[in-house]
Amino acid sequence: MSNNRPLEISSLSKSFETPTGPITVVKDFNVRVQPGEFVALLGHSGCGKSTVLSIVAGLQSATLGGIVVDGIEVTEPGLERAFVFQSPSLLPWLSAIENVFLSASQAKPKLPAAQQKELATKYLNLVGVGEYANELPTALSQGTQQRVAIARALAQEPRFLLLDEPFGMLDSLTRFELQDLVLDLWEKDRKTVIMVTHDIDEALYLCDRIILMTDGPEATVGLDLKVPIPRPRHRHQATSHPEYQRLRDRIIGFLESHSKQFQPEKEAA
Ligand SMILES: Nc1ncnc2c1ncn2[C@@H]1O[C@H](COP(=O)(O)OP(=O)(O)O)[C@@H](O)[C@H]1O
Ligand SMILES: [Mg+2]
Repeated sequence: MSNNRPLEISSLSKSFETPTGPITVVKDFNVRVQPGEFVALLGHSGCGKSTVLSIVAGLQSATLGGIVVDGIEVTEPGLERAFVFQSPSLLPWLSAIENVFLSASQAKPKLPAAQQKELATKYLNLVGVGEYANELPTALSQGTQQRVAIARALAQEPRFLLLDEPFGMLDSLTRFELQDLVLDLWEKDRKTVIMVTHDIDEALYLCDRIILMTDGPEATVGLDLKVPIPRPRHRHQATSHPEYQRLRDRIIGFLESHSKQFQPEKEAA
């Protein structure tokens, strides 16, 4: 069955032209994501996480290598891959439900409008903001807007969810709520998720696997760590699991040793 094949990021390199010449931001990046896996891409700001994710989404092209889905190289966006950005980026002149409806109607153009509307309502309710259906985005809090953005992605009924620091703009309480929402959603149908984050605790709480990137230029996979904390997870149960602290220390050690600001004398300690 094709749905049982991994998503492969294969020998991926990305270079940009700059006024001072080309720079290779990501080089020879290889990751195989299994169906149903929840994977974090973690690394310092500017290392190339968003670049990798946007190439997976088909929003940018690879310079070398590429992305393979169901055994076929993908170079463009596709309905099976939905993207959620750090900023909700809803269309400001459309209500919450209309934003989600637009996605449902684009994903399933042959469906009668009434059923597209049902899909939009279903996903808006699923993310817990059905009561704001007719509000414009500007009338909604950041957290509610981001819930609508998640509903918009889900209304596409994708197999892959690509999340680029989806909680990065939220206050910590709202961030916790949205992390729990994403975890609940994932438990329901175990979509394959790739989430970019620089939040170690978020990655440990949500993910099966954490891919740590080295610093750029020429960033690549530095460490590939499994998170063996049992599911379903709850915040307290996860954070008090012995593996949590062990992995947290390992990740901090890695990030410190790959930080440009790192003081060499500490390295020996
Ligand atoms: N279009 C572009 N042109 C030139 N450099 C870019 C472009 N997009 C990203 N970069 C550079 O690539 C590096 C990685 O960026 P990005 O993937 O956004 O990092 P991250 O998401 O890990 O913070 C940064 O140094 C950034 O300045
Ligand atoms: Mg980024």
